[in-house]
Amino acid sequence: MKKNFNSRLVKAIKLVTKKKKSYLHEPHLDESDIQEVKKCIKTTFVSSISPQVNLFEKSIAKITKSKYVIATVNGTSAIHTALKLFDIKPTDEVLMPSLNFVSSANAVKYCSATPHFVEINKKNLSVDIIKLENYLKKISLIKKNHCFNKKTKRRIKALVVVHLFGYSGNLNKINALCKKFKLKLIEDAAEAFGSYFKKKHLGTFGDLGVLSFNGNKILTTGGGGAILTSNLGLARKASSLINQSKIPHKWETKFSEIGYNYRLPGLNAALGLSQIKKFKKILKAKKKLNKKYRNIFKNFKELEFFTESKDCSSNHWLNTIILKTNSMNLRNKVLKKLNNSGIQARPCWKLLHKHKQFFDCPKMELKITEKLEKKIINIPSSPMYGLND
Ligand SMILES: Cc1ncc(COP(=O)(O)O)c(C=O)c1O
Repeated sequence: MKKNFNSRLVKAIKLVTKKKKSYLHEPHLDESDIQEVKKCIKTTFVSSISPQVNLFEKSIAKITKSKYVIATVNGTSAIHTALKLFDIKPTDEVLMPSLNFVSSANAVKYCSATPHFVEINKKNLSVDIIKLENYLKKISLIKKNHCFNKKTKRRIKALVVVHLFGYSGNLNKINALCKKFKLKLIEDAAEAFGSYFKKKHLGTFGDLGVLSFNGNKILTTGGGGAILTSNLGLARKASSLINQSKIPHKWETKFSEIGYNYRLPGLNAALGLSQIKKFKKILKAKKKLNKKYRNIFKNFKELEFFTESKDCSSNHWLNTIILKTNSMNLRNKVLKKLNNSGIQARPCWKLLHKHKQFFDCPKMELKITEKLEKKIINIPSSPMYGLND
Protein backbone atom coordinates (compact mmCIF):
# COMPACT_ATOMS: atom_id res chain seq x y z
CA MET A 1 0.00 0.00 0.00
CA LYS A 2 1.48 3.37 -1.03
CA LYS A 3 2.43 5.64 1.84
CA ASN A 4 -0.02 8.45 1.12
CA PHE A 5 -2.95 6.13 0.38
CA ASN A 6 -5.05 7.22 3.36
CA SER A 7 -4.70 10.92 2.52
CA ARG A 8 -5.50 10.33 -1.15
CA LEU A 9 -8.58 8.36 -0.09
CA VAL A 10 -9.80 11.18 2.16
CA LYS A 11 -9.27 13.69 -0.63
CA ALA A 12 -11.12 11.54 -3.17
CA ILE A 13 -14.16 11.00 -0.94
CA LYS A 14 -14.34 14.72 -0.08
CA LEU A 15 -14.13 15.57 -3.77
CA VAL A 16 -17.20 13.43 -4.36
CA THR A 17 -19.32 14.41 -1.32
CA LYS A 18 -18.19 18.07 -1.35
CA LYS A 19 -18.73 18.03 2.43
CA LYS A 20 -16.43 18.64 5.38
CA LYS A 21 -18.43 16.08 7.31
CA SER A 22 -20.15 13.23 5.52
CA TYR A 23 -22.30 10.38 6.77
CA LEU A 24 -22.85 6.78 5.82
CA HIS A 25 -26.53 7.14 5.03
CA GLU A 26 -28.76 10.00 6.11
CA PRO A 27 -32.49 9.93 5.38
CA HIS A 28 -33.78 12.28 2.69
CA LEU A 29 -36.37 14.26 4.71
CA ASP A 30 -38.08 17.56 3.96
CA GLU A 31 -41.27 19.58 4.47
CA SER A 32 -43.35 17.15 2.36
CA ASP A 33 -42.63 14.38 4.89
CA ILE A 34 -43.75 16.61 7.77
CA GLN A 35 -46.99 17.46 5.94
CA GLU A 36 -47.82 13.79 5.26
CA VAL A 37 -47.24 12.81 8.91
CA LYS A 38 -49.32 15.80 10.04
CA LYS A 39 -52.13 14.66 7.76
CA CYS A 40 -52.04 11.25 9.41
CA ILE A 41 -52.17 12.79 12.90
CA LYS A 42 -55.26 14.77 11.90
CA THR A 43 -57.04 11.56 10.86
CA THR A 44 -56.32 10.16 14.39
CA PHE A 45 -55.45 6.77 12.80
CA VAL A 46 -51.89 6.85 14.08
CA SER A 47 -51.56 3.18 15.09
CA SER A 48 -51.55 0.03 13.03
CA ILE A 49 -55.25 0.10 12.12
CA SER A 50 -54.90 2.91 9.63
CA PRO A 51 -55.72 3.54 5.96
CA GLN A 52 -52.16 4.87 5.61
CA VAL A 53 -50.74 1.40 6.25
CA ASN A 54 -52.96 -0.16 3.58
CA LEU A 55 -51.97 2.57 1.12
CA PHE A 56 -48.30 2.11 1.93
CA GLU A 57 -48.54 -1.65 1.33
CA LYS A 58 -50.23 -1.01 -2.03
CA SER A 59 -47.49 1.43 -3.07
CA ILE A 60 -44.73 -1.02 -2.12
CA ALA A 61 -46.55 -3.76 -4.05
CA LYS A 62 -46.71 -1.50 -7.09
CA ILE A 63 -42.97 -0.75 -7.02
CA THR A 64 -41.78 -4.28 -6.24
CA LYS A 65 -44.52 -6.00 -8.28
CA SER A 66 -44.94 -8.33 -5.31
CA LYS A 67 -48.43 -9.84 -5.26
CA TYR A 68 -48.78 -9.37 -1.49
CA VAL A 69 -47.04 -6.95 0.87
CA ILE A 70 -47.45 -7.00 4.66
CA ALA A 71 -45.99 -3.98 6.45
CA THR A 72 -44.23 -4.63 9.77
CA VAL A 73 -42.63 -2.58 12.55
CA ASN A 74 -39.14 -3.33 11.25
CA GLY A 75 -37.13 -5.71 9.08
CA THR A 76 -36.16 -7.94 12.01
CA SER A 77 -39.80 -8.63 12.90
CA ALA A 78 -40.45 -9.39 9.22
CA ILE A 79 -37.64 -12.00 9.26
CA HIS A 80 -38.97 -13.47 12.51
CA THR A 81 -42.46 -13.70 11.01
CA ALA A 82 -41.06 -15.33 7.85
CA LEU A 83 -39.39 -18.02 9.98
CA LYS A 84 -42.63 -18.55 11.92
CA LEU A 85 -44.52 -18.96 8.63
CA PHE A 86 -42.22 -21.88 7.82
CA ASP A 87 -42.69 -23.28 11.31
CA ILE A 88 -38.99 -23.10 12.22
CA LYS A 89 -38.60 -25.21 15.36
CA PRO A 90 -35.87 -25.95 17.94
CA THR A 91 -34.92 -29.06 15.92
CA ASP A 92 -34.26 -27.00 12.75
CA GLU A 93 -31.23 -25.30 11.24
CA VAL A 94 -31.38 -22.25 8.97
CA LEU A 95 -28.55 -21.48 6.54
CA MET A 96 -27.30 -17.90 6.23
CA PRO A 97 -24.04 -16.04 5.56
CA SER A 98 -21.82 -15.17 8.50
CA LEU A 99 -21.02 -11.81 6.90
CA ASN A 100 -24.42 -10.51 7.80
CA PHE A 101 -26.36 -8.18 10.02
CA VAL A 102 -27.40 -9.94 13.23
CA SER A 103 -31.16 -9.88 12.54
CA SER A 104 -31.50 -13.24 10.76
CA ALA A 105 -29.39 -15.09 13.31
CA ASN A 106 -31.28 -13.48 16.21
CA ALA A 107 -34.63 -14.29 14.62
CA VAL A 108 -33.60 -17.95 14.24
CA LYS A 109 -32.67 -17.95 17.93
CA TYR A 110 -36.09 -16.42 18.78
CA CYS A 111 -37.47 -19.70 17.35
CA SER A 112 -34.96 -21.64 19.53
CA ALA A 113 -33.50 -22.99 16.28
CA THR A 114 -29.88 -22.95 15.05
CA PRO A 115 -28.24 -20.63 12.50
CA HIS A 116 -25.83 -22.48 10.19
CA PHE A 117 -23.25 -20.22 8.57
CA VAL A 118 -22.32 -20.44 4.89
CA GLU A 119 -19.66 -18.99 2.60
CA ILE A 120 -20.10 -16.03 0.23
CA ASN A 121 -18.18 -15.05 -2.88
CA LYS A 122 -16.21 -11.94 -3.61
CA LYS A 123 -17.86 -11.20 -6.94
CA ASN A 124 -21.31 -10.36 -5.63
CA LEU A 125 -21.00 -10.78 -1.81
CA SER A 126 -23.83 -13.32 -2.02
CA VAL A 127 -23.92 -17.00 -1.10
CA ASP A 128 -21.30 -19.04 -3.00
CA ILE A 129 -23.69 -21.35 -4.82
CA ILE A 130 -21.12 -23.92 -6.00
CA LYS A 131 -19.42 -24.21 -2.62
CA LEU A 132 -22.76 -24.44 -0.84
CA GLU A 133 -23.98 -27.17 -3.17
CA ASN A 134 -20.81 -29.21 -2.63
CA TYR A 135 -21.05 -28.67 1.12
CA LEU A 136 -24.70 -29.74 1.28
CA LYS A 137 -23.93 -32.82 -0.81
CA LYS A 138 -21.35 -33.77 1.79
CA ILE A 139 -23.12 -32.96 5.04
CA SER A 140 -26.80 -33.50 4.32
CA LEU A 141 -29.21 -36.27 3.56
CA ILE A 142 -32.60 -35.96 1.86
CA LYS A 143 -35.20 -38.13 3.59
CA LYS A 144 -38.93 -38.02 2.81
CA ASN A 145 -38.47 -34.74 0.93
CA HIS A 146 -36.69 -33.11 3.87
CA CYS A 147 -33.04 -32.13 4.20
CA PHE A 148 -31.20 -33.32 7.34
CA ASN A 149 -27.77 -32.47 8.69
CA LYS A 150 -26.09 -35.92 8.95
CA LYS A 151 -23.92 -34.78 11.85
CA THR A 152 -26.36 -32.86 14.06
CA LYS A 153 -29.44 -34.87 12.93
CA ARG A 154 -31.36 -31.59 12.78
CA ARG A 155 -33.47 -30.64 9.79
CA ILE A 156 -32.03 -27.92 7.54
CA LYS A 157 -35.18 -26.10 6.65
CA ALA A 158 -34.37 -22.79 4.99
CA LEU A 159 -31.73 -20.53 3.46
CA VAL A 160 -31.76 -16.80 4.20
CA VAL A 161 -29.84 -15.03 1.42
CA VAL A 162 -28.79 -11.46 2.10
CA HIS A 163 -28.64 -8.84 -0.64
CA LEU A 164 -25.71 -7.05 0.91
CA PHE A 165 -25.51 -3.27 0.42
CA GLY A 166 -28.23 -3.57 -2.27
CA TYR A 167 -26.44 -6.09 -4.54
CA SER A 168 -27.42 -9.63 -5.42
CA GLY A 169 -26.16 -12.96 -6.65
CA ASN A 170 -27.83 -15.12 -9.29
CA LEU A 171 -31.24 -15.70 -7.77
CA ASN A 172 -32.35 -18.21 -10.38
CA LYS A 173 -29.43 -20.44 -9.39
CA ILE A 174 -30.04 -19.90 -5.67
CA ASN A 175 -33.69 -20.85 -6.16
CA ALA A 176 -32.69 -24.01 -8.04
CA LEU A 177 -30.28 -24.97 -5.27
CA CYS A 178 -33.01 -24.54 -2.65
CA LYS A 179 -35.39 -26.68 -4.67
CA LYS A 180 -32.75 -29.40 -5.03
CA PHE A 181 -32.14 -29.53 -1.27
CA LYS A 182 -35.79 -28.99 -0.26
CA LEU A 183 -35.07 -25.66 1.41
CA LYS A 184 -37.35 -22.68 1.78
CA LEU A 185 -35.78 -19.52 0.39
CA ILE A 186 -36.10 -16.30 2.39
CA GLU A 187 -34.55 -13.20 0.81
CA ASP A 188 -33.27 -10.65 3.26
CA ALA A 189 -33.70 -7.64 0.97
CA ALA A 190 -33.59 -5.22 3.93
CA GLU A 191 -30.94 -3.15 2.12
CA ALA A 192 -32.24 -3.71 -1.38
CA PHE A 193 -35.40 -1.68 -1.93
CA GLY A 194 -35.06 -0.46 -5.54
CA SER A 195 -32.63 -3.23 -6.56
CA TYR A 196 -33.31 -5.77 -9.29
CA PHE A 197 -31.98 -9.03 -10.67
CA LYS A 198 -32.86 -9.52 -14.34
CA LYS A 199 -35.32 -6.62 -14.00
CA LYS A 200 -37.24 -8.38 -11.19
CA HIS A 201 -37.25 -6.72 -7.79
CA LEU A 202 -35.10 -8.33 -5.10
CA GLY A 203 -37.20 -10.00 -2.44
CA THR A 204 -39.64 -11.42 -5.01
CA PHE A 205 -37.66 -14.52 -6.04
CA GLY A 206 -37.86 -16.60 -2.87
CA ASP A 207 -40.78 -18.09 -0.98
CA LEU A 208 -40.70 -14.92 1.10
CA GLY A 209 -38.80 -11.63 0.91
CA VAL A 210 -38.12 -9.05 3.59
CA LEU A 211 -37.53 -5.28 3.37
CA SER A 212 -36.43 -2.73 5.96
CA PHE A 213 -37.41 0.94 6.11
CA ASN A 214 -35.15 1.87 8.99
CA GLY A 215 -33.84 5.47 9.10
CA ASN A 216 -30.57 4.46 7.46
CA LYS A 217 -32.23 2.78 4.47
CA ILE A 218 -32.87 4.19 1.00
CA LEU A 219 -36.54 4.78 1.86
CA THR A 220 -37.53 5.26 5.47
CA THR A 221 -40.63 5.05 7.64
CA GLY A 222 -38.57 5.85 10.75
CA GLY A 223 -38.71 2.19 11.70
CA GLY A 224 -40.46 -0.28 9.48
CA GLY A 225 -40.28 -3.33 7.30
CA ALA A 226 -42.30 -5.53 5.00
CA ILE A 227 -42.86 -9.13 4.02
CA LEU A 228 -43.19 -9.84 0.29
CA THR A 229 -44.81 -12.97 -1.09
CA SER A 230 -46.77 -14.23 -4.07
CA ASN A 231 -48.47 -16.91 -1.97
CA LEU A 232 -51.96 -16.00 -0.72
CA GLY A 233 -51.90 -18.55 2.10
CA LEU A 234 -48.59 -17.19 3.45
CA ALA A 235 -49.81 -13.61 3.06
CA ARG A 236 -52.97 -14.31 5.05
CA LYS A 237 -51.05 -16.14 7.77
CA ALA A 238 -48.45 -13.32 7.93
CA SER A 239 -51.18 -10.66 8.28
CA SER A 240 -52.71 -12.61 11.14
CA LEU A 241 -49.43 -13.39 12.95
CA ILE A 242 -48.31 -9.75 12.96
CA ASN A 243 -51.68 -8.71 14.38
CA GLN A 244 -51.54 -10.90 17.54
CA SER A 245 -53.32 -13.69 15.57
CA LYS A 246 -56.56 -11.83 16.18
CA ILE A 247 -59.60 -13.44 14.57
CA PRO A 248 -61.22 -10.66 12.51
CA HIS A 249 -64.52 -9.59 14.08
CA LYS A 250 -66.26 -6.23 14.54
CA TRP A 251 -66.29 -6.29 18.33
CA GLU A 252 -65.06 -9.61 19.68
CA THR A 253 -61.40 -10.07 20.51
CA LYS A 254 -60.36 -13.69 20.13
CA PHE A 255 -56.95 -15.01 19.12
CA SER A 256 -56.31 -18.18 17.14
CA GLU A 257 -52.72 -18.83 18.31
CA ILE A 258 -49.66 -17.04 19.76
CA GLY A 259 -49.16 -13.91 17.68
CA TYR A 260 -47.06 -10.75 17.65
CA ASN A 261 -47.68 -7.02 17.74
CA TYR A 262 -45.61 -6.45 14.61
CA ARG A 263 -47.86 -4.38 12.31
CA LEU A 264 -46.51 -1.02 11.10
CA PRO A 265 -48.27 2.00 12.70
CA GLY A 266 -50.05 4.56 10.51
CA LEU A 267 -47.68 7.37 11.51
CA ASN A 268 -44.73 5.45 10.11
CA ALA A 269 -46.66 4.46 6.99
CA ALA A 270 -47.51 8.13 6.38
CA LEU A 271 -43.82 8.99 6.32
CA GLY A 272 -43.28 6.08 3.94
CA LEU A 273 -45.97 7.41 1.60
CA SER A 274 -44.29 10.78 1.25
CA GLN A 275 -40.90 9.08 0.81
CA ILE A 276 -42.30 6.96 -2.01
CA LYS A 277 -43.28 10.16 -3.88
CA LYS A 278 -39.59 11.08 -4.15
CA PHE A 279 -38.21 7.57 -4.40
CA LYS A 280 -37.30 7.86 -8.10
CA LYS A 281 -35.34 11.02 -7.33
CA ILE A 282 -33.53 9.33 -4.42
CA LEU A 283 -32.66 6.31 -6.56
CA LYS A 284 -31.35 8.53 -9.36
CA ALA A 285 -29.18 10.43 -6.89
CA LYS A 286 -27.80 7.16 -5.51
CA LYS A 287 -26.87 5.96 -8.99
CA LYS A 288 -25.18 9.27 -9.75
CA LEU A 289 -23.17 9.11 -6.54
CA ASN A 290 -22.06 5.56 -7.32
CA LYS A 291 -20.88 6.68 -10.76
CA LYS A 292 -18.89 9.56 -9.25
CA TYR A 293 -17.14 7.19 -6.85
CA ARG A 294 -16.51 4.65 -9.62
CA ASN A 295 -14.78 7.30 -11.71
CA ILE A 296 -12.62 8.65 -8.92
CA PHE A 297 -11.48 5.22 -7.70
CA LYS A 298 -10.30 4.15 -11.17
CA ASN A 299 -6.91 5.57 -10.26
CA PHE A 300 -6.53 3.65 -7.00
CA LYS A 301 -4.38 0.54 -7.25
CA GLU A 302 -4.81 -0.26 -3.55
CA LEU A 303 -8.51 -1.00 -3.70
CA GLU A 304 -11.34 -2.32 -5.78
CA PHE A 305 -14.52 -0.28 -5.93
CA PHE A 306 -17.28 -2.85 -5.59
CA THR A 307 -19.70 -2.88 -8.54
CA GLU A 308 -22.83 -4.83 -9.34
CA SER A 309 -22.42 -8.01 -11.34
CA LYS A 310 -24.14 -8.87 -14.60
CA ASP A 311 -27.96 -8.87 -14.45
CA CYS A 312 -28.08 -6.97 -11.14
CA SER A 313 -29.30 -3.39 -11.08
CA SER A 314 -28.46 -2.13 -7.61
CA ASN A 315 -29.88 0.73 -5.54
CA HIS A 316 -26.22 1.24 -4.41
CA TRP A 317 -27.38 1.50 -0.83
CA LEU A 318 -23.86 1.55 0.57
CA ASN A 319 -20.90 2.29 -1.65
CA THR A 320 -18.15 -0.16 -0.83
CA ILE A 321 -14.41 -0.30 -1.30
CA ILE A 322 -12.54 -3.57 -1.00
CA LEU A 323 -8.93 -3.13 0.07
CA LYS A 324 -6.38 -5.28 -1.71
CA THR A 325 -4.38 -5.90 1.46
CA ASN A 326 -5.58 -8.66 3.75
CA SER A 327 -4.90 -7.07 7.12
CA MET A 328 -7.24 -6.12 9.94
CA ASN A 329 -4.59 -3.73 11.23
CA LEU A 330 -4.40 -1.83 7.94
CA ARG A 331 -8.19 -1.81 7.55
CA ASN A 332 -8.51 -0.28 11.00
CA LYS A 333 -5.88 2.36 10.20
CA VAL A 334 -7.84 3.38 7.09
CA LEU A 335 -11.08 3.51 9.12
CA LYS A 336 -9.41 5.65 11.77
CA LYS A 337 -8.06 8.10 9.22
CA LEU A 338 -11.42 8.43 7.44
CA ASN A 339 -13.46 8.87 10.62
CA ASN A 340 -10.93 11.34 12.07
CA SER A 341 -11.20 13.34 8.84
CA GLY A 342 -14.97 13.81 9.12
CA ILE A 343 -15.84 10.90 6.85
CA GLN A 344 -18.15 8.37 8.45
CA ALA A 345 -16.93 4.99 7.24
CA ARG A 346 -17.42 1.55 8.71
CA PRO A 347 -16.26 -1.99 8.18
CA CYS A 348 -18.77 -4.73 7.45
CA TRP A 349 -20.18 -6.26 10.63
CA LYS A 350 -18.09 -8.47 12.89
CA LEU A 351 -18.72 -11.95 11.49
CA LEU A 352 -21.63 -13.70 13.17
CA HIS A 353 -19.76 -16.94 13.92
CA LYS A 354 -17.25 -14.89 15.94
CA HIS A 355 -19.92 -13.81 18.44
CA LYS A 356 -20.11 -15.90 21.60
CA GLN A 357 -23.89 -16.32 21.27
CA PHE A 358 -23.29 -18.16 17.98
CA PHE A 359 -20.07 -20.07 18.85
CA ASP A 360 -21.90 -23.39 18.92
CA CYS A 361 -23.54 -22.96 15.51
CA PRO A 362 -22.42 -25.17 12.62
CA LYS A 363 -20.54 -23.53 9.76
CA MET A 364 -18.83 -24.39 6.50
CA GLU A 365 -15.31 -23.25 5.61
CA LEU A 366 -15.48 -19.44 5.58
CA LYS A 367 -12.18 -18.49 3.93
CA ILE A 368 -13.53 -15.75 1.66
CA THR A 369 -15.86 -14.45 4.36
CA GLU A 370 -12.91 -14.11 6.76
CA LYS A 371 -10.83 -12.32 4.12
CA LEU A 372 -13.61 -9.92 3.22
CA GLU A 373 -14.06 -8.96 6.85
CA LYS A 374 -10.54 -7.50 6.72
CA LYS A 375 -11.07 -5.70 3.42
CA ILE A 376 -14.55 -4.19 3.21
CA ILE A 377 -15.13 -0.53 3.99
CA ASN A 378 -18.44 1.24 3.43
CA ILE A 379 -18.14 4.92 2.59
CA PRO A 380 -20.61 7.86 2.78
CA SER A 381 -23.60 7.09 0.60
CA SER A 382 -26.32 9.60 1.52
CA PRO A 383 -28.39 10.35 -1.58
CA MET A 384 -27.76 14.11 -1.36
CA TYR A 385 -24.06 13.59 -2.18
CA GLY A 386 -25.22 12.46 -5.61
CA LEU A 387 -26.90 15.83 -6.19
CA ASN A 388 -23.91 18.01 -5.37
CA ASP A 389 -23.04 19.15 -8.90
C1 LIG B 1 -29.15 -7.10 6.04
C2 LIG B 1 -30.12 -6.61 7.06
N1 LIG B 1 -31.05 -7.45 7.52
C3 LIG B 1 -31.95 -7.06 8.43
C4 LIG B 1 -31.97 -5.79 8.92
C5 LIG B 1 -32.96 -5.44 9.99
O1 LIG B 1 -33.81 -4.43 9.67
P1 LIG B 1 -34.42 -3.51 10.84
O2 LIG B 1 -33.33 -2.64 11.34
O3 LIG B 1 -35.51 -2.76 10.13
O4 LIG B 1 -34.96 -4.43 11.87
C6 LIG B 1 -31.01 -4.87 8.47
C7 LIG B 1 -30.93 -3.51 8.94
O5 LIG B 1 -30.93 -2.78 9.61
C8 LIG B 1 -30.06 -5.29 7.53
O6 LIG B 1 -29.11 -4.46 7.10
